[in-house]
Amino acid sequence: MRLQNQVAIITGGANGIGYAAVERFAEEGARVILADYDEETGAGAANHLIEQGYEVTFLQVDVVNRESVQQLVEQTLKTYGGIDILVNNAGITKDAMLAKMEPADFQRVLDVNLTGVFNCTQIVLPHLIEKGKGKIINTSSVSGVYGNVGQTNYAASKAAVIGMTKSWAKELGRKGINVNAVAPGFTRTSMVEKMPAKIIEQMTSVVALQRLAVPKDIANAYLFLASSESDYVHGHVLHVDGGIQM
Ligand code: CAA
Ligand code: NAI
Repeated sequence: MRLQNQVAIITGGANGIGYAAVERFAEEGARVILADYDEETGAGAANHLIEQGYEVTFLQVDVVNRESVQQLVEQTLKTYGGIDILVNNAGITKDAMLAKMEPADFQRVLDVNLTGVFNCTQIVLPHLIEKGKGKIINTSSVSGVYGNVGQTNYAASKAAVIGMTKSWAKELGRKGINVNAVAPGFTRTSMVEKMPAKIIEQMTSVVALQRLAVPKDIANAYLFLASSESDYVHGHVLHVDGGIQM
C-alpha cells in the first residue's frame, strides 16, 4: 500500500481525472476526501467507493469561495484528524477565440483554475506546516505549457499554476513540504468530449502514442507524486501527455 493511512483531499473528485485519482488513492490505503462543487455526482461517487470498502468521504466545496474551502478543511480535520496530501485538480474550460472571448468567461476560468488552487493551498498549508511534512500536487495542462487555440483564459490559468508550483517549491521545501505539478495531455473526460470531433481527431494525431489519455493515466502520476517514492522530486512539472507535439 503506497498511501497507507495518508489523508488526501482531492478537489474536483466527482468526475473524470479527479474521480480516477480518488479511486487509485483509496486502493492504495489512503483516506480520501472527495471534494467537489457537484453535490449529486460527488456523493454518488463516494458512496460507490464506500460500498467497495474504501475510506472515502464526500465534502462539497467551491474552490473559489474561501469560506467554503475553510469549511472543507475544518470538516476534513474533524473526519480524519489531519491532512497529508492536497491534489488541486478542480478545473474548468470556457473556450473561445480571443476576438470572441467574453471578459466574464476569461475571469471565471482564472477564478476556478488559478485562484481556486491558491485558496485551497493557502488554507491547507498551516496544517501541513504543523506536521512538518506534506505533498501538494497541482494540475496544469499541455495548454499551459504550449498554449492552445481558443484557450486564452485556460492556458493563462494553467501556465500560472506552473509559476505558483515553482514558487511554492522554493518557499515550502524547507518546511518539508513537496510541491509538484502534473501537466496532462488531452484526456478522455467530459472536458474533451465536448470539443468538436474534428479537433479531437487532430489532437490525437499529434500524440506520439497515437491515443488520448484515460483518467487513470493521470491519476497514476498524482499517485507517484503523493507517495514517498517521489520524496526527492520537487518543483517539477510532470508531463503526462503521450509525447504530444502541439
Ligand atoms: N489549430 C488551428 N486552427 C484552429 C484550431 C486549432 N487547434 N481550432 C480552431 N482553429 C481554426 C478553425 O479551423 C477556424 O479557422 P477558419 O476561420 O480559417 O475556418 C478558426 O480557428 C475558428 O474556429 P471555429 O470555427 O471553431 O470558431 P468558433 O468560434 O466556432 O469556436 C472554439 C472556437 C470554441 C475555440 C472551438 O474552435 C473549439 O472548441 N476549439 C477547441 C479548443 C480546445 O482545444 N480546447 C481544449 C479543451 S480540453 C482541455 O482544455 C483540457 C486540456 O487541458 C488540454
Ligand atoms: P471534469 O470536468 O471531468 O472534472 C472537473 C471537476 O471539477 C468536476 O467534477 C467539477 O464539478 C469540479 N469543479 C469545477 N469547478 C469547481 C469548483 N469551483 N469547486 C469545486 N469543484 C469544481 O474535468 P477533468 O478533465 O477531469 O479535469 C480535471 C483537471 O485536469 C482540471 O484541472 C483540468 O483543467 C485538468 N486537465 C484536463 C485535461 C483533459 O484533457 N481532460 C488535460 C489537462 C488538464
